[in-house]
Amino acid sequence: MSDKKILIAFYSHSGNTKTIAEKIQEITDGDLYEIKTSHEYPKNYTDIVNQAKKEKEQEFKPELTEHIDISNYDTIFIGSPVWWYTFASPVRTFLSENDFSGKTIIPFCTHGGGGASMTYSDIARLCPDSDVQAGFSSFENNAKESEIEQWINSSY
Ligand SMILES: Cc1cc2nc3c(=O)[nH]c(=O)nc-3n(C[C@H](O)[C@H](O)[C@H](O)COP(=O)(O)O)c2cc1C
Repeated sequence: MSDKKILIAFYSHSGNTKTIAEKIQEITDGDLYEIKTSHEYPKNYTDIVNQAKKEKEQEFKPELTEHIDISNYDTIFIGSPVWWYTFASPVRTFLSENDFSGKTIIPFCTHGGGGASMTYSDIARLCPDSDVQAGFSSFENNAKESEIEQWINSSY
């Protein structure tokens, strides 16, 4: 493992992405940062699906409760559930509030069967001055620790 300072930033609504983020933290010994919004998303699945669709269409950036100074980190893992074929809206806020230029970004996501879809390419599009590495996708929280480890070892 390299001596670069590592941050694992993630958003998770129902816990799957958090599980993967915690595994990455154990493997890398980086700092964990959970992206949280001021307003809670609906618990009802249909309601959140409808809300997330509107938010994607409007490129909405929900307000976050905490802010983190990322300037000291060289490598930043960014994790999200897949919402409507891309990252969840809170990640859009996180990407827009911070300067990722010159940093290595390693994206990861959890999904319900559709795969990462546009998640990684959308992150790369919003961070044109970063080195965006190959992402890791897990069906819900099913990824095995050995798979995560293999991906991390091939990332840097
Ligand atoms: C609003 C919403 C939209 C979703 N859109 C997709 C999708 O486009 N493709 C997919 O495979 N799964 C989709 N899912 C399923 C989630 O990506 C999956 O359950 C994920 O593991 C949830 O992560 P979390 O527990 O960290 O919130 C969606 C779930 C929600 C709530």
